[in-house]
Amino acid sequence: MISIDDVSVRFGGVHALTDIGLTIGEGGICGLIGPNGAGKTTLFDVVSGLRRPTTGSVCIGGVDVTGTGALHRSRLGVRRTFQRPQVFGRLTVLDNVLAALEWHGGRGGLAADLVGWRPRRRLADERRARAEEALRRCGIEEFAGVYAADLPIGRRRMVELARAIVDDPAVLLLDEPTSGLDDDQRALFAEVVRPLDTTILLVEHDVPFVMSLSRRVVVLNLGKVIADGRPDEVRADPAVRAAYLG
Ligand SMILES: Nc1ncnc2c1ncn2[C@@H]1O[C@H](COP(=O)(O)OP(=O)(O)O)[C@@H](O)[C@H]1O
Ligand SMILES: [Mg+2]
Repeated sequence: MISIDDVSVRFGGVHALTDIGLTIGEGGICGLIGPNGAGKTTLFDVVSGLRRPTTGSVCIGGVDVTGTGALHRSRLGVRRTFQRPQVFGRLTVLDNVLAALEWHGGRGGLAADLVGWRPRRRLADERRARAEEALRRCGIEEFAGVYAADLPIGRRRMVELARAIVDDPAVLLLDEPTSGLDDDQRALFAEVVRPLDTTILLVEHDVPFVMSLSRRVVVLNLGKVIADGRPDEVRADPAVRAAYLG
């Protein structure tokens, strides 16, 4: 599904990523762990199209997307959440999630808007139902009418998650999605994410938590992959213990 080939990213003299080669198959959760500064977010930027790698290539669903931007990737079904949640603060929670469905277009153009054309209204009703269902799954339906800016960070993360899952993503990139969540919210997060039938890359600081959710774990350190395998293999890996788990 995602094929990262020989990717390097340099920021001046900083080697954020060096010769990363990773193939992430369809379905299931792949955990991505590593100390601060390891290059996890940079790798997400490269996959989601926010950053061109200095060298190397990225394929999604067999298509080379290296030269394309975030809009193109999102149309291929790539969705992500951010380490610092990026919600539309001046939109309500419901509108934040509806915004993820609007790109499909309206049906019938401006004229349909003006006359309240029935198929248009039906489409709007369907989208609203889907958005409300996503809010419900993420435990934030009671905040549907609240401005996203007025929510605490944990709830904003759930708004981002609802927005990311509402349109059946092909690839979901989650960058430290549970930081700032309380225990109940984390349990809910796991409940939302575990059954999703999509390719998920999960960056997460809580190692036992990510190990419990992932079927594969990749460890980055100083821009390089130092381990890659099943959670039990990675946990036992001496290089990982030395660099990270201590
Ligand atoms: N926009 C940037 N400009 C310069 N250096 C950056 C930039 N983004 C990240 N870096 C550097 O790249 C390295 C990897 O950062 P990052 O991908 O954010 O790591 P992680 O998400 O694993 O904490 C770090 O050394 C960081 O300081
Ligand atoms: Mg990061």
